[in-house]
Amino acid sequence: MAADEMERVVLVRHIDGMPTPDDFRIERLAIPDLAEGQFLAKNHFVSCDPGTRSRLSPGASYAPPLPPGAPVDGFCVGEVIASRNDRFAVGDHVALSGWATHVVSNGRGYCLKLPDLDVPEQLWIGLLGVPGMTAWFGLKRVAQFKAGERVLVTSAAGPVGATAGQLAGLWGASEVIGIAGGPVKCQWLRDIGFTTAIDYKAADFEAQFAVAAAGGFDVMFDNVGNALIDRALPHMKLRGRIVVSGQVADYNTPNDAIPGLHNTREFIGRRLRMEGMVVFDDLPGFAAAQAELAGLIKAGSVQYREEIFDGLARLPEAFCGLFTGQSFGRRLIRV
Ligand SMILES: NC(=O)c1ccc[n+]([C@@H]2O[C@H](COP(=O)([O-])OP(=O)(O)OC[C@H]3O[C@@H](n4cnc5c(N)ncnc54)[C@H](OP(=O)(O)O)[C@@H]3O)[C@@H](O)[C@H]2O)c1
Repeated sequence: MAADEMERVVLVRHIDGMPTPDDFRIERLAIPDLAEGQFLAKNHFVSCDPGTRSRLSPGASYAPPLPPGAPVDGFCVGEVIASRNDRFAVGDHVALSGWATHVVSNGRGYCLKLPDLDVPEQLWIGLLGVPGMTAWFGLKRVAQFKAGERVLVTSAAGPVGATAGQLAGLWGASEVIGIAGGPVKCQWLRDIGFTTAIDYKAADFEAQFAVAAAGGFDVMFDNVGNALIDRALPHMKLRGRIVVSGQVADYNTPNDAIPGLHNTREFIGRRLRMEGMVVFDDLPGFAAAQAELAGLIKAGSVQYREEIFDGLARLPEAFCGLFTGQSFGRRLIRV
């Protein structure tokens, strides 16, 4: 690639069902000239996020669908290499969005100038970015979590789930129960402080779940979708809260085939509350939460896993692996 060129990932067609790498292609183009107010960032890392899936098919979602041929957005972190914007100078480190080697930005939308917190830069699109902030504000603001409560987390070995479970433990949960796929992920959850880890792929899942559910759940932090929420509803404690963070099991399923919720009667007697979240509502609180979480990470109190793929060309394959259980931790592309 020439110095005045960039590459980006483009959606080839709307996706029906599970995504495959062929649904994307890499496009090479000249880096556009900067207009007044714009800057150019060279990306170092780009992330794979399950939520991106909801924009790759037509139909209703919390974000508008992308048309075929459009460049795909995902989070990225890098350095400003040219600028006509007073707020962003050459050499500044930034986190913004774009599945690309370079991003031209006017500084609006999701665009953070990164403070120097002495952490690996890719953490700004990991635990100090959207996944970590989702865990933080999902527990604090949405769940109104209190010390002494019992917490259930689904897709617990992912970046959102693992962070939510560890924060709940640090903030005084009586027990933290994680659900994840496979013995290796479950062992890791126990190693990082989950009280119990349940393998939903194991033959004895129902028996394991029944034991964990006997103590009831004050908070369910759900990343997976309706089937597990329905499963947990009869075990929620009085005034329990369910955080609808994500639906990784349902993103690839047509609307009419997504499992329904049957146990809604439990909301009445148990006075339950279920609330969805979009983490960007909490943007004003990010800086303080990021500084505190960075301290916990550096102290070794919050652990994380990363899977780093080299080169933008591997992004489609890395993204598709989010939906097959192959991913284990934050999937990142080193650009
Ligand atoms: N609301 C917001 O503002 C917000 C912001 C960011 C993220 N989110 C949501 O948070 C959730 C977690 O995100 P993340 O980045 O930490 O990703 P993640 O949990 O690591 O997602 C990938 C993992 O999901 C699990 N999974 C995939 N298909 C599944 C299925 N059919 N059933 C059960 N589990 C399945 C797999 O783990 P197993 O091997 O354990 O199955 C896979 O490794 C996602 O739903 C995402 O959309 C929400």
